[in-house]
Amino acid sequence: MRRKLAAGNWKMNGTAAALNELKAMKDAAKTQATDVLICPPATLISRASDTVSGSPIAIGGQDCHANASGAHTGDISGAMLADAGASYVITGHSERRVDHGETDAIVAAKSTAAYDNDLIAVICLGESLKQREAGETLAVIGTQLQGSTPDAATAANTVIAYEPVWAIGTGKVPTIAQIAEVHDFIRAELIKHFGEDANGIRILYGGSVKPSNATEIFAVENVDGALVGGASLKAADFNAIIAALDAS
Ligand code: 13P
Repeated sequence: MRRKLAAGNWKMNGTAAALNELKAMKDAAKTQATDVLICPPATLISRASDTVSGSPIAIGGQDCHANASGAHTGDISGAMLADAGASYVITGHSERRVDHGETDAIVAAKSTAAYDNDLIAVICLGESLKQREAGETLAVIGTQLQGSTPDAATAANTVIAYEPVWAIGTGKVPTIAQIAEVHDFIRAELIKHFGEDANGIRILYGGSVKPSNATEIFAVENVDGALVGGASLKAADFNAIIAALDAS
């Protein structure tokens, strides 16, 4: 009942030449079973939208400002993302939480700005290694989930991404049991807060997902897809991850 989602976060990578990878993803994107999303840097959103036109691939932003407009040099509003062709936006990625001091309240405000512009918010959560080792993972995830997810969240406007900070770009991946534990916890918390509709909210795993580990991660019950960094930059890798999700 939940459509699977393979999402790529290009982070601060890519100039016009990267659109060739997107073209190769478009050529391979024949499936209707799995939703596919690429979040390029803001400078490429408009051209990326043109590139994927007519294919099932959606384009998203990596961040948006909470306000609709104003004196916020360098920031991008939800309306600007939508105008450039985005239909999703990532909010609360750990790199933004760390690099830009984004709190749960800021992430919630940005997610609300996404809803206001008909963008689907991909709200990111994740514990640090220190928190994992201190046995605080579920408490941290619970607090982030509650503080970062607006009350207006629905299965249609929200995707949750669980990305352990220590697994991002490190090649380290939690055990299948650890992934299952956190995803089951997030599902239960969502249902507690939003009721049965929360059964339709997709929960992605992110952190060192690769073609070689995708199949076993996608076999976990409450894993509805992945938010992929490094391996989404190359069509060969990302297409293989999409294929693994399709087959799951
Ligand atoms: P990597 O797949 O490179 O570990 O990045 C994960 C991520 O942060 C996606 O948002």
